[in-house]
Amino acid sequence: MRDAYIVSALRTPGCKKDRGAFSHTRPEDLLYHVINGLFERTPGLNKKEVEDIVIGCCFPEAEQGLNIGRIIALMAKFPDETSGATVNRFCASGLESIATQAMRVMSGWAEVVIAGGVESMTMVPIPGKLPRPHPDLAKERAEVYISMGITAENVAKRYNINRQMQDEWSYHSQIKAADAQKNNLFKEIVSVPANKYIEEPDGTIKREMQIQNVDDGVRPDTTLEGLTKLKPAFAAAGTVTAGNSSQMTDGAAAVLLMSSEAVNKFGVKPIAKLKCYTVVGVNPDEMGVGPAYAIPKLLKMANLTLDDVGLFEINEAFASQTIYCLQKLDLYDKKELWESGSSKRKINVNGGAIALGHPIGCTGSKLAAQLTNMMKEKGVKYGIESMCVGGGMGAAALFELVE
Ligand SMILES: CC(C)(COP(=O)(O)OP(=O)(O)OC[C@H]1O[C@@H](n2cnc3c(N)ncnc32)[C@H](O)[C@@H]1OP(=O)(O)O)[C@@H](O)C(=O)NCCC(=O)NCCS
Repeated sequence: MRDAYIVSALRTPGCKKDRGAFSHTRPEDLLYHVINGLFERTPGLNKKEVEDIVIGCCFPEAEQGLNIGRIIALMAKFPDETSGATVNRFCASGLESIATQAMRVMSGWAEVVIAGGVESMTMVPIPGKLPRPHPDLAKERAEVYISMGITAENVAKRYNINRQMQDEWSYHSQIKAADAQKNNLFKEIVSVPANKYIEEPDGTIKREMQIQNVDDGVRPDTTLEGLTKLKPAFAAAGTVTAGNSSQMTDGAAAVLLMSSEAVNKFGVKPIAKLKCYTVVGVNPDEMGVGPAYAIPKLLKMANLTLDDVGLFEINEAFASQTIYCLQKLDLYDKKELWESGSSKRKINVNGGAIALGHPIGCTGSKLAAQLTNMMKEKGVKYGIESMCVGGGMGAAALFELVE
């Protein structure tokens, strides 16, 4: 099989649902700017070279419906010949899109393609505009339809991940993200115009616009004491809070992939290759355990061990499930691998979704952009991204730096 090269991987900032900078900005506009960013950072490449665009989205309806992969191709002025599709593997959608496009390149079915992900959790909140659980399945397996917060509570209770561990993890996530922001480490961010529509006293609507270039959910003032005081968000006597859960976020990300022939033809310098991708199924009522199974399966496929991997991006849907997965991988007790301030850290080095947000359908592409950017920055050969997936799954991908 051929190699699939990641030539550019970018993301918009992640901004808080409802109260954040993108709450009045349509998801197509987020995608528009991040996809145009790929071309700004790949001089000499013309949009007519792109054969297909696949976009991950968890709730592909309303503003992000009608096959946003094709909508964005037309909106961003690709030629009519550039096709487009939408894929949904819930929180792995933005990674599924990369894998789908990479496999097309690897099999010889395409030369230049774009993958990505998008979610406006403001405009299309979980669980979509018109949820319609199947009545028989809802009786037989109610856990398929429960809140993700309850699945995080299940993991915490079942595997003794106590509140202190969750808050401690979350504190470090916030501090790592704040440090990275301060030191301008998120080089993969594309600035995006953010709209605000304001009703004037005479009833007319005024549009204001500002350029957004930072993740707006990071809380640099986070303390362990502050986190400890928060009330449980999902269950009266629970341990999962607003402070140790991922934030609901609006955002988009995009990845440009090419074959080696295209890399040579356009004279570009790729960042990384997608080596392997895998998905596993787990019990939906503890969907957060997914990475604990997906990562070992991935490593086996690649014939590598955890020690070979220099950077991990493990999506922090909730601190409870992230900690459980790291325990299973025997990485949690090695706190120097993830604590803020540790020079040896290699897991979520710049914080995770607890601080930076989790724009669900976008997250897989967003983490790929963060991971490959840091692999390049630090000269790390192998990086893994992994996430748990609603409905009971885990996904994981291995990237290899192009030296
Ligand atoms: C947990 C959840 C319900 C909280 O939503 P929310 O109430 O809108 O969250 P907020 O960010 O407003 O936080 C609530 C309050 O907690 C406190 N808080 C949150 N993070 C904090 C921190 N790091 N330090 C101190 N206080 C914090 C604040 O007081 C905040 O209120 P304020 O911003 O007005 O001061 C929501 O984030 C959620 O559902 N997350 C999971 C999403 C999900 O399921 N995704 C799919 C995963 S598979």
